[in-house]
Amino acid sequence: MSDIKIRKGQAGDVEAVSHLLKETWRATYRNIYSAEQIRDLTGRWHNPEIIQRQLGDDGSRFLVAELDDGVIAGHLLARLRADNTILLTRLYVRPDAQGRGIGKMLYQHMLSVFPDAKSIELEVEPQNTKALGFYHALGFVNTGRTNSCGGDSDIPALIMERLL
Ligand SMILES: CC(C)(COP(=O)(O)OP(=O)(O)OC[C@H]1O[C@@H](n2cnc3c(N)ncnc32)[C@H](O)[C@@H]1OP(=O)(O)O)[C@@H](O)C(=O)NCCC(=O)NCCS
Repeated sequence: MSDIKIRKGQAGDVEAVSHLLKETWRATYRNIYSAEQIRDLTGRWHNPEIIQRQLGDDGSRFLVAELDDGVIAGHLLARLRADNTILLTRLYVRPDAQGRGIGKMLYQHMLSVFPDAKSIELEVEPQNTKALGFYHALGFVNTGRTNSCGGDSDIPALIMERLL
């Protein structure tokens, strides 16, 4: 396996992260959501303007996993809330790079960025068995549900939490 570097995102990563999210979203959700839903959500959530704004947000931590050939293979976005809990907004690894430890490396790097946080919360699609298995393996438990994943959609999600 080639070397993998976890680092903060930079302005030059915006297009690559947008592309990674769109590609990984299609692969992950194509049997769960309609093509129209995927187009709509990735168009709204993963367009370069939005990614650029998130990259510049001081309150968030925007991480990328870079392979030694410069390819961006993974991305994580998280922020520390006022109650000292982490909201893990996004964790995506390109389909051809999954299962090689990159998701866990991004996750562990995030923990080191917020050493005093007391818990982590995230939302996950109930049919996304791969992600559910990953989060369960990391010690997350289900704590509830929402009918509006991300707060601005009409798709359901499980809420998961891990105490630190
Ligand atoms: C879910 C995802 C982020 C995991 O990242 P990954 O790089 O594929 O996972 P890793 O290789 O880092 O796995 C880390 C650990 O989790 C375990 N794991 C991963 N997937 C698992 C599964 N489905 N069931 C059980 N354990 C799993 C691995 O065995 C590994 O354990 P180890 O450290 O003891 O060896 C990645 O597969 C992905 O991007 N999926 C598509 C997008 C997605 O669903 N994102 C989450 C949205 S909420």
